[in-house]
Amino acid sequence: MGEIKSMADENRMFPPPKEFVDQAYVKSREEYEKMWKQSVEDPETFWGNLAKDLYWYKPWFKVNREDFAKAEVEWFIGGKTNLSYNCLDYQIEKGKGDKVAIIFQGEPEDDVKKITYKEMLSLVSKFANVLKKKGVRKGDRVAIYLPMIWQLPVAMLACTRIGAIHTIVFGGFSAEALRDRILDAGAKILITANGYWRSGKHVSSKANADKALELCLAEGHTVDKVIVVRRLEDLDVPMKEGRDTWFEDEMAATDIDDVCPAVMMDAEDPLFILYTSGSTGKPKGALHTTGGYMVYAYATVKYVFDIKDTDVYFCTADIGWVTGHSYVVYGPMLNGATSIVYESVPTFPKPDRFWQIIEKFKVNVFYTAPTAVRALMKEGEQWPQGRDLSSLRLLASVGEPFNPEAWLWFHKYIGGEKCPITDTWWQTETGGHMICSLPGAIPTKPGAAGLPFFGVKAVVLKPRSSGDEPAVECDVNEGGELCMARSWPGMMRGVFGDPERFYNTYFIQQPGYYFSGDGARKDEDGYFWLLGRVDDVVNVSGHRLGTAEIEAALNSYEGVAESAVVGFPHDIKGEDLYAYVILKTGVQPSDDLKKALVAHVRKEIGPIASPGKIQFVSGLPKTRSGKIMRRILRKVASGEIDQLGDTTTLADPSIVDEIVAGRQ
Ligand code: WTA
Repeated sequence: MGEIKSMADENRMFPPPKEFVDQAYVKSREEYEKMWKQSVEDPETFWGNLAKDLYWYKPWFKVNREDFAKAEVEWFIGGKTNLSYNCLDYQIEKGKGDKVAIIFQGEPEDDVKKITYKEMLSLVSKFANVLKKKGVRKGDRVAIYLPMIWQLPVAMLACTRIGAIHTIVFGGFSAEALRDRILDAGAKILITANGYWRSGKHVSSKANADKALELCLAEGHTVDKVIVVRRLEDLDVPMKEGRDTWFEDEMAATDIDDVCPAVMMDAEDPLFILYTSGSTGKPKGALHTTGGYMVYAYATVKYVFDIKDTDVYFCTADIGWVTGHSYVVYGPMLNGATSIVYESVPTFPKPDRFWQIIEKFKVNVFYTAPTAVRALMKEGEQWPQGRDLSSLRLLASVGEPFNPEAWLWFHKYIGGEKCPITDTWWQTETGGHMICSLPGAIPTKPGAAGLPFFGVKAVVLKPRSSGDEPAVECDVNEGGELCMARSWPGMMRGVFGDPERFYNTYFIQQPGYYFSGDGARKDEDGYFWLLGRVDDVVNVSGHRLGTAEIEAALNSYEGVAESAVVGFPHDIKGEDLYAYVILKTGVQPSDDLKKALVAHVRKEIGPIASPGKIQFVSGLPKTRSGKIMRRILRKVASGEIDQLGDTTTLADPSIVDEIVAGRQ
């Protein structure tokens, strides 16, 4: 530990090995800077050239137009294309038809399916025809609630083929969370599975889906069609006559052709909606559009993963999150790569499952999250040491700052000290990587996210206290708010169904800039170091959770008067949730009540949102105007009780003593 700490203090750099540099697309910082400069000063040429690597029915007449201060952004204006066509037909035209596009590894070891680009095209076309038969048309929303199985990319590519807007809901979300997303998107069709494997057990997705649809009905919204993948042969689930059909039966129907022309989409036509948490109680539907997202997903996989035709690539993220959208499915397929879809957890049957998959398929590029690395590091290095990981040439990370201790373990035991590690900072909103060091060009510093990707004009701004203050950049190494000074192609274009919310959420904090919600500092070498969220969002095991949503869930439980949820540091998860709960008069605090509250949050949102600690309190520290002083709650939750700062402005300072005394 001492050694690691001092390394972090020294700002040690790890330059990429020469063999890596020799074969990399970008080989030096100078080369990167030249390209970056062109990407922001002359996007017309830079992005125009990159976009030409892809297929367009009709070219754009202008690459980019924006009034950034008003959150108005367009890319590849007038261009017509199709994402599914580019991921499939275009790859086949380039001679990759017999190359494996997706390797599916189920939880059971022998459950493997390798799907070539040609086979994928046939499956996707068939399923697109199934969707059409069900009445799905361009612009319709299709809700997808599937586990990590190969039918998920098939469903996504089928939607984008016909211009339907998919909204994927992470399989770990509850029926209530699924209902909210279906309602907000106005989806009339749902694709789900009977269930999936999790640590040797069956989990049913259909039960949650059925409940969600009942809840939708109670709100007056009917989902008319449900397509169910029979993932588990022997798991019986009720099928509703006239509404539910099996995926396998639909695909085998005699009237289903395996040819389906891709719909010509305008570059700015909606592509997908993905719900994400923010500082209000209601998740927002981040809306991405076709052309810009496509080019950005393509470009980031090419340069950040330095992807080569021979690479086998493994991203461990769930497709239910944006990382899975851009970096399990679309980005790799736009590059004609081979991408692994793994159904289950890293620890089943043993804590070497990732390492075993790397060995089995000779993975070259491995993309995962620090929380997974920390959890596997805890299991010991004998697990990776028992596997042949020599095929790896590049490691990458996403989701939260990579603590140097876990970084060094990853570097030594997984990368064999020969693989560069590229950290990637980005968000659901950004569509693709934003801050990330190109692996052949930029030496890495453990714990730093690195330098901006092409097209990204990142700045760290001083927090403003009033609406009239101008935006001011921070000094070197001074912490501030991470913002963007211009648009990039993969940026979200709006909040679905709520146009004003986009502007109001991201463009008000620092007028003229996109505000990420993250704190950061920029060091003397221009590297960005992420400092965590500055808003009320907590990052638990890489899952982004809005504390307001969890508070709303707690407050909806009988007997709860009010609550406040904050994050606190956790060894494996990065952060965990600490809930302060005020009970209604006459309700007795008890351990059973705590358990009931946890169960309630799991039911309302999902297991990922379970508070790690609950403390019953008689009041919350509030200012005289009634604002909860979250800073104090965070300090108490983190055990920093001697650094509470000034509490004299509180309406009732004595409440702080009570909270400190009852700390969990
Ligand atoms: C955090 C996931 C530090 C950050 C792609 C961001 C990170 C939020 C990193 C987005 C990283 C993601 N270093 N923090 N490399 N990557 N984050 O929308 O707080 O699920 O705002 O997108 O995760 O989470 P989201």
